Amino acid sequence: MKKINRNIVIGLAAMSLLLTSCYKDKNSPGFEFMPDMYRSPAYRPGESNPNFANGLNNQNPVEGTIAHSFDREQMINSLPYAYANTPQGRDSAIAFLKNPLEKSDVATLEGKRLYNVYCAVCHGADGKGDGSVVAVLIAKENYGLQPPAFNSDRLKDITEGQIFHATQYGKGNMGSYSSQLTAYERWQVVMYVQELQRK
Ligand code: HEC
Repeated sequence: MKKINRNIVIGLAAMSLLLTSCYKDKNSPGFEFMPDMYRSPAYRPGESNPNFANGLNNQNPVEGTIAHSFDREQMINSLPYAYANTPQGRDSAIAFLKNPLEKSDVATLEGKRLYNVYCAVCHGADGKGDGSVVAVLIAKENYGLQPPAFNSDRLKDITEGQIFHATQYGKGNMGSYSSQLTAYERWQVVMYVQELQRK
């Protein structure tokens, strides 16, 4: 009985010594069973990375990559314009380019708002080609820059593709609107221009 007691005491003393004397630093986690779990071997963004030829961890996307989004507006805006700024490109746009937006009153109304901001100065609020800039030019006898009315014989039947193409690259004395308005916005404007064609 006495012997057992002594063994237990010695055992407990040895264990407590083992448990308390391992690390002096209280903040140290001590023995790490799986260091990978504490310290991830993954490369962080912006770090150098010897596995790539240029030594950088951040690699450029593959050439020709197109940003993609499941948001419809972002998708329409990120698709590259497929028609060249050439007579052939224009012919193709006239024949094949279609409005990716569904026609709706809301979209047409937003198109009207944008038209009044960006286009009406030349084309006029009703699309008659009598905007305020044109009036000034007429007054200065520097005539010849007047856009035709959208409901004139020349423009009343032009396709939505032709209207959009004009906003993409410009036409004659009219400049491009591709930096002021996104593709999505310009397709809304196209809807409103089509209304002006029928006026
Ligand atoms: C600085 C004046 C000006 C502004 C602003 C302007 N246009 Fe024009 N636009 C013209 C002139 C001038 C023409 C005639 C160009 C020609 O046929 O040589 C024209 C022609 C067009 C045509 C006919 C294209 C064709 O194929 O014959 C469309 C469509 C058109 N504009 C749409 C727009 C839209 C939409 C906006 C606004 C986003 C806009 N324009 C802003 C001056 C302007």
